[in-house]
Amino acid sequence: MEVNPWEVKGDVDYNKLIKEFGTKKITDELYKQIIDATGEDNVMLRRKFFFSHRDLDLVLKEHKQGKKFFLYTGRGPSGPMHIGHIIPFVFTKWLQDMFDVNLYIQITDDEKLFVKRDKTKDEIDKWSYENIKDIAAIGFNPDKTFIFRDSEYIKNMYPLIIEVARRVTFSTAKAVFGFTNETNIGLIFYPAIQIAPTLFEKNKRALIPSAIDQDPYWRIQRDLAEKLGGKKAAAIHSKFIPPLAGVNGKMSSSDPNSAIWLTDDEKTVRKKIMKYAFSGGQPTVEEHRKLGGNPDVDVSFQWLNIFFEPDDKKLGKIRDDYKSGKLLTGELKQITVDKINEFLMKHRKKREKADIKRYMYSGKLAERMWNKLIE
Ligand code: TYM
Repeated sequence: MEVNPWEVKGDVDYNKLIKEFGTKKITDELYKQIIDATGEDNVMLRRKFFFSHRDLDLVLKEHKQGKKFFLYTGRGPSGPMHIGHIIPFVFTKWLQDMFDVNLYIQITDDEKLFVKRDKTKDEIDKWSYENIKDIAAIGFNPDKTFIFRDSEYIKNMYPLIIEVARRVTFSTAKAVFGFTNETNIGLIFYPAIQIAPTLFEKNKRALIPSAIDQDPYWRIQRDLAEKLGGKKAAAIHSKFIPPLAGVNGKMSSSDPNSAIWLTDDEKTVRKKIMKYAFSGGQPTVEEHRKLGGNPDVDVSFQWLNIFFEPDDKKLGKIRDDYKSGKLLTGELKQITVDKINEFLMKHRKKREKADIKRYMYSGKLAERMWNKLIE
């Protein structure tokens, strides 16, 4: 197994990752504390899709004492977004709604030019724009959300980036990210740029929702934040939405059949799921009726479980019927196709109306951020 911000390979063992990364599991106790604080349940927490954290308990404790925090997350605009990429943003919106806090969303066009050396600047610019539209469609609070592109906002945050960069050695970066002599020098510097937004409001703690692949940055951040007069970042980590072909690994932008894109139309979604989604069913209907299917390895079922069927009773019935053989693989897949198409249809409508200028330049927080040099 290998999990880092640029690659996820092999069978991901999430319990092992918690140990390796030195994070903590979201226990039932902590889950209850979140529900107490928000007064609302969340399917991704309840189903343990968000499973790990750093200092989330502290964030909740401080919140109770009236100390505010802020949210920070991001996207590397190397191509179109898939369902896996948008889910952390859906969860982030829930957190913003619940706690009514500021949110910073970093669009790392620089990172992607360092990593994807076959892509041109024009391509990355195009994807930045398209991805920001998708992100804005989620409907964050326009006066408390700032979406910024690194290459554009760099001047305002460069003083802070310098302070971060001068405190991180190459040997630390190598140990954390596995950089080698062949690594592009832009990427070697890049961690300072992804760490900087955690210190945009030094008197508040950042809470970072993302999949667990982004955690290595926060490990470094937590070693230097206090030296810079800021606070150690807190994080809440999700698992990866599995690719169509199987429950392990993550959906990948480089393999078009591994993912459902936000731009896929109804027919494409149906075709991809019917053809490529790994099934836990038996090879023939007769065998399936007799032996039943295995929902734990079935990708359609996993997707319903993570997000697309929030009703526990309905999901339970689907699981039981699939296991007993009453529900066939094609029928299970059709349920997933319908749920995803419904989500995508709504998403596309919101996307058309999304006002990205407000998030990037003219909303209250955006305007304030453009008028300030971050030191
Ligand atoms: P990126 O563009 O690779 O991913 C965007 C967000 O999606 C999460 N993610 C997934 N979540 C569930 N299932 C998947 N299959 C899946 N694949 C990706 C990522 O963890 C991420 O939260 N360097 C970052 C951009 C960034 C960022 C940040 C992310 C800048 N600052 C702060 C999180 C927090 C990147 O390239 O993400």
